[in-house]
Amino acid sequence: MESTAPILVTKGLCKRFGSVEAVRNVDWQIYPGKVMALVGDNGAGKSTLIKLITGAYMPDAGEILIRGENARIKSPTDSLRLGIAPVYQDLALVESRDVMMNMFLGTERTHGPFNMFLNKKGMRTRAHEVLSEIHSRIADPNVPVSQLSGGQRQVVAVGRALVRGGDIIILDEPTAALGVEQTQEVLQLIETLRSNGKTVIFISHNLSQVMDLADWISVMFHGEMIATRPRSELTRSEVVSLIMGAEVDAMTMA
Ligand SMILES: Nc1ncnc2c1ncn2[C@@H]1O[C@H](COP(=O)(O)OP(=O)(O)O)[C@@H](O)[C@H]1O
Ligand SMILES: [Mg+2]
Repeated sequence: MESTAPILVTKGLCKRFGSVEAVRNVDWQIYPGKVMALVGDNGAGKSTLIKLITGAYMPDAGEILIRGENARIKSPTDSLRLGIAPVYQDLALVESRDVMMNMFLGTERTHGPFNMFLNKKGMRTRAHEVLSEIHSRIADPNVPVSQLSGGQRQVVAVGRALVRGGDIIILDEPTAALGVEQTQEVLQLIETLRSNGKTVIFISHNLSQVMDLADWISVMFHGEMIATRPRSELTRSEVVSLIMGAEVDAMTMA
């Protein structure tokens, strides 16, 4: 078992849409500095659970504790203030703007009377710092996003999460639309985030990636969190069985 205290805990989280119980009584623990893979079939409730944690939805019941404190997350701004930074599937990048402005989108630095002027120098310096922390190959923060590959776009979106002070970074299917080489770039990025001490929640359908990268694997089935186990205690076929709804107790986990 993990000896460090979890950085994020959910207790009895519930979210219903009409007659659908999308998230049912979910108790979950996320450990700091780890890659937590969240898996489950389509409709299992993964995205809804993430949206409860990021404040996009309010739970019908249950609570979220961050660093041991009850977090009253009522909006994405609240969760960001607590260091939770989602990277959305569509990345939400502005094609025509450069890497730097995309990283600072919504949190632009300004100076001068009435904060009239963009502090481009300050933003460029910080963008450089963040890009080098994550070993990005983007040499120039002033290049437009439209010129970047899919993998580099992920880097920019993660860079934005870091600029915003994120230390729990949530990636929802980050490699779904990428080719082999760009996928490698993103998996490398997740490893770099971990070695920089960040906590990464990684939603993926690709079990090879999950088995290679995760420290912990959490499985949802029909809205319930049915297992959260160290990667080392699970085989790939056990993960497949859990995704299909196998009872944890019925499985032989020596
Ligand atoms: N905004 C919504 N309105 C109505 N039903 C929803 C909404 N979001 C998700 N659901 C339903 O909740 C269940 C869980 O969905 P979701 O969290 O998206 O699963 P996953 O991300 O694991 O595929 C599904 O049955 C889905 O149809
Ligand atoms: Mg989803």
